Amino acid sequence: MRQQIAAANWKMNLDYKEAKALLDGIMSQQILLEPHRKVVFAVPAPYLRMARRKTKEHLNYEVSAQNCYSKKAGAYTGEISADMIRSVGSRYVIIGHSERREYFKESDETLAEKLDLALEAKLTPIFCCGESLAIRESGKQDEFVAGQLANSLFHLNAEAILKIVIAYEPIWAIGTGKTASAQQAQDMHASLRRVLAKKYGQPVADMIPILYGGSVKGNNASELFAQPDVDGGLVGGASLNEEEFVAIIRALK
Ligand code: PGA
Repeated sequence: MRQQIAAANWKMNLDYKEAKALLDGIMSQQILLEPHRKVVFAVPAPYLRMARRKTKEHLNYEVSAQNCYSKKAGAYTGEISADMIRSVGSRYVIIGHSERREYFKESDETLAEKLDLALEAKLTPIFCCGESLAIRESGKQDEFVAGQLANSLFHLNAEAILKIVIAYEPIWAIGTGKTASAQQAQDMHASLRRVLAKKYGQPVADMIPILYGGSVKGNNASELFAQPDVDGGLVGGASLNEEEFVAIIRALK
């Protein structure tokens, strides 16, 4: 079975004390994860070390950064490299979240550079893609999202693509309370898997986890995750609440 992943994206929320309390609360529930399941906490950079300390004794609980820079090292004041993230025990990094693409003008090409550095640092990139409402309304969402994959991922060989997790996050569903229906999510995930299969072959495409993101909550996670091509979620708002996120972990296939 493909990896099933519940990933928390805290974004720029919680102070240090609140962050520790939330992790303590979730970890104290001692939810055992079977080998095909993972829980990943994408925390703000100053909390990476603490989050690793609190999760490292628990099998299949991992820590992620929310971004990394597109250069390996050097005079880039304020930026954080993939190597630095790995060196504090994180194993994942989110790349290309729509908020980064929009507010920080990150292009497909920049994201391709970040992916290469993340892989070189032995981090698993969680690569985000997804269309705006205008594109969804024009009916061109499948080709738009396929283009995002082609532009940022398709320089990778099959061995490298197998180290990536994809997160489909329709922008119109992020933080809006408006979730894609389970069928809409499934349709897009199946379409992405076809695109991957065309490029890398079906066996490779069948092994790549594709997460859904956009207003995932405790009460809709089971229906979304039950879809055959939905392999878990990248969760923003609801990951800041212990009960909600625990319900989402328990909804993993
Ligand atoms: P949301 O955010 O769950 O608050 O909609 C998801 C995301 O942006 O990763």
